[in-house]
Amino acid sequence: MADNNIHPVFDRLLQREDKEAALNQKALVLWMTGLSGSGKSTIAIALERRLHNEGYFSKVLDGDNIRAGINNNLGFSDEDRKENIRRISEISKLFVDGGVITINSFVSPTKEIRDQAKQIIGESDFIEVFINASLEVCEARDVKGLYKKARAGEIKDFTGIDAPFEAPENPGIEIKTDDLTVEESVDKIMVELMKKIELKK
Ligand code: ADX
Repeated sequence: MADNNIHPVFDRLLQREDKEAALNQKALVLWMTGLSGSGKSTIAIALERRLHNEGYFSKVLDGDNIRAGINNNLGFSDEDRKENIRRISEISKLFVDGGVITINSFVSPTKEIRDQAKQIIGESDFIEVFINASLEVCEARDVKGLYKKARAGEIKDFTGIDAPFEAPENPGIEIKTDDLTVEESVDKIMVELMKKIELKK
């Protein structure tokens, strides 16, 4: 008799639970939204280090590694931002399926865009973190010199200047970087995060 069993057990994909058990953590996406210069990536990087030191496995996704690579054909029109966030959400979902805590740092300026991310990733795996700094403070910092260029009209559709930023109404976590240091911000996020990533024995 012919052997029709072309998918024996050892050919099946391992499940997310198997990966989470191996990594001793529960996976999720921490989605940081906020103005350019609000401190998202700085906090993301510090948080990744803290998680690493405490034995958790995470990955930061931000403009540097996403817009320079897989999304290097996208700009900042509404449509391109939507596609940017859609692809990032799908990538994040794959990371979460692999058991990885994913720290996303993207302006993601509208409720519609963030809702799309939440829908793709799944509500139970999604924590929205509002990195809240006033436009005045972000513009005064102007880390990348982009606000100056936007004010001079050299960059169009710049979030906060001539493109909208809709603050989240009910974020899972809010970090006011006008008031908190990076370490204090990480502490605050860790308190909420630990409730979700600890694998119950
Ligand atoms: S998003 O709106 O699509 O979520 P994303 O987070 O990927 O944006 O990229 C934002 C970063 O790109 C900013 O921090 C800034 O450095 C840079 N940038 C360049 N042009 C713009 C623009 N028009 N609006 C906002 N950010 C811009």
